[in-house]
Amino acid sequence: MRFANTRILITAAASGIGAAAARRFASEGATVVMSDIDNDRLVACAEAMKSLPGRITTHAADVSDERQIQDLVAHAATTLGGLDVLVNNAGLGCHGRVTELSTDDWRRVLGISLDSVFYATRAAMPHLITSHGCIVNTASISGLAGDYGFAAYAAAKGGVVNLTRTLALDHARDGVRVNAVCPGLVATQLTRKFFDNARIARAYEDAIPMGRAAQPEEIASVIAFLASSDASYVTGVNLAADGGLMAATGQPNFTRLM
Ligand SMILES: NC(=O)c1ccc[n+]([C@@H]2O[C@H](COP(=O)([O-])OP(=O)(O)OC[C@H]3O[C@@H](n4cnc5c(N)ncnc54)[C@H](O)[C@@H]3O)[C@@H](O)[C@H]2O)c1
Repeated sequence: MRFANTRILITAAASGIGAAAARRFASEGATVVMSDIDNDRLVACAEAMKSLPGRITTHAADVSDERQIQDLVAHAATTLGGLDVLVNNAGLGCHGRVTELSTDDWRRVLGISLDSVFYATRAAMPHLITSHGCIVNTASISGLAGDYGFAAYAAAKGGVVNLTRTLALDHARDGVRVNAVCPGLVATQLTRKFFDNARIARAYEDAIPMGRAAQPEEIASVIAFLASSDASYVTGVNLAADGGLMAATGQPNFTRLM
């Protein structure tokens, strides 16, 4: 029950990593507001967690809409009586080099993956300063290095990574910690197309030192650690949870080739 009496807001919580994080927090006693753009799925997801010890409510919002995010944060702070943890989990990619991306694609990816972090953080910060709370952002290893053909996603996640560091500096003396988890490949709806393609699945298996994708629960446990008092001296960190992928230089696997 690490999160008993802890008030948590999670975005993009109706699926994948966000849903797993909500489940983890509620399993450990938290009071959670789950948010997502897909209200039906959000409500169904929360319903499936109602036997957990924590208390869960839902509030639908599109994270790329500043006004909706302001309303969401105000709603969470009012109904929970404050806010201790903000998990900025929303994000999505769009395949394409800059020569192939439309301006709309670019804006959509940046809006959902990066602007959302700015909007929610700005709205939540006064509450987090009051509670000496923390933020956990879901960034990506695509924010730590480049990825072929994912220009918008890499730019957005690189922005989340460096915003995480800067927020940590700016608010350390306010008693607010800010960290990010940087997942590698995680088996969620977002990446289903990779698992459905045998060649891509095989290429991932070869590239990931641990030889497999993460389950969403394995990322949720890192989010829970960063949000917990176990991480009381950790701020400004972008923690890779990637089966060892970022430990490699990208050079060929000589052990396998020679
Ligand atoms: N799955 C991976 O391999 C992986 C790897 C690295 C980082 N991530 C990051 O993890 C986060 C969660 O991804 P996931 O894999 O759990 O995805 P997912 O597809 O399982 O869930 C994403 C959720 O976001 C919601 N969403 C989409 N647009 C939204 C919007 N405008 N406003 C609010 N909610 C919206 C969807 O309805 C869905 O419930 C994202 O930031 C993603 O970039 C995922």
